[in-house]
Amino acid sequence: MLNFEFKNPTKILFGKGEIAKISREIPKDAKILMIYGGGSIKNNGVYDQVKEALKDHDLYEFGGVPANPEYEVLLNALSFIKEKNINYLLAVGGGSVIDGTKFLSAAANYTGEPWDILRNSVRTFEGEGMPFGSILTLPATGSEMNSGYVISRRETNEKLSSGGPGLFPQFSVLDPEVIRTIPKNQIVNGITDAYTHVLEQYMTAPSSADLQERIAESILISLQETAPKVLADDFDYDAAGNFMWCCTMALNGLIQKGVITDWAVHAMGHELTAYFGIDHARTLAVIAPSHYRYNFETKKGKLAQYAERVWGIKDGTVEEKAELGIKKMEEFFHSLNIKTKLSEYTGDYKGTAERVEKAFTDRKWSGLGEYKKLTPQDAYKIVEMSY
Ligand code: NZQ
Ligand code: ZN
Repeated sequence: MLNFEFKNPTKILFGKGEIAKISREIPKDAKILMIYGGGSIKNNGVYDQVKEALKDHDLYEFGGVPANPEYEVLLNALSFIKEKNINYLLAVGGGSVIDGTKFLSAAANYTGEPWDILRNSVRTFEGEGMPFGSILTLPATGSEMNSGYVISRRETNEKLSSGGPGLFPQFSVLDPEVIRTIPKNQIVNGITDAYTHVLEQYMTAPSSADLQERIAESILISLQETAPKVLADDFDYDAAGNFMWCCTMALNGLIQKGVITDWAVHAMGHELTAYFGIDHARTLAVIAPSHYRYNFETKKGKLAQYAERVWGIKDGTVEEKAELGIKKMEEFFHSLNIKTKLSEYTGDYKGTAERVEKAFTDRKWSGLGEYKKLTPQDAYKIVEMSY
């Protein structure tokens, strides 16, 4: 097992009715900006619950953060924060709203051009960002209990990430009741995103970190078993709760400790969202199978372990089990109605591999993957395989 440090300071308030407790988590004299998306929180009662909980606080609002949070929109929020001397942020939404809030937390005290934070991947250390909490309305990204964020800039077709130990939410409310109003296409996105988060931290090489490997496998199995229950027409509170906690646990730092991690699927996937606006999770399902086939020799041991422990495949050589593992993964995505080829999302896919290769070359991303050896030319081949 590799050496590691682990600190995750986010307090989780899990369960029905927990939104009412946020008034205790935010200082009484705070000037709060509640940040939300396109309005789903106004239709499902979450907005009213927040207003009620914070009725004795000084509360301002900024709505309209779009999916794949847009830099230009966030700049308007940043001006508002400065104008009103806001000193506490409250994200109420999915990954996009929470990520946007993290960027605002980082930018509020940053003296340079805000985009430089993303262009130069400037990290935000403890005490540097503006304090914030979150109320999660869409299980998927894990943003509610991690310190990373991803921001899009439509003007330049860029989607870039940053983070740092100063950007953990102080608290996050996980109330499974919010899942009642999530459209099915967003639920399957959430399952696929969380599933791929585990894969990025797991599908490398067999390691000696037994516990992390078993936890990762448990999250994958739990997501597989929970999927049909959260997609059924009748709302199932316990299934919703399991789904929500799986998504958080998939990317709160725990399973990546002491092991090597990949993240190349996300790097390539973000480009597809930037060029075509494809939902984040779906870009991962497009890239992952090709990535695992292209890197088959280095990943086959872990792919075979995945096939054995997650799908119960006992027979065959390492290579046969590994290939069956990839097939099972694709079948799982298809069972969620998630398509795994780029051409199924856009007719305009020709030239995408060249674009990704150029973007990675321009950014000097010459060594992605768990061994820091995946070149822009490799990315070209993987993206081309996923057409
Ligand atoms: O904007 P509103 O009206 O709220 O509607 C949203 C949005 O249209 C809707 N929604 C959310 N909760 C709902 C709901 N609709 C009904 N009922 C509810 N309870 O769902 C739509 C999608 O929301 P969004 O926040 O965009 O989705 P998601 O949580 O999947 O976030 C995606 C963003 O997170 C980034 C992605 O790249 C993408 O930009 N990621 C962030 C990560 C992180 N911080 O660790 C890791 C991930 O890998 C990912 O990159
Ligand atoms: Zn993701």
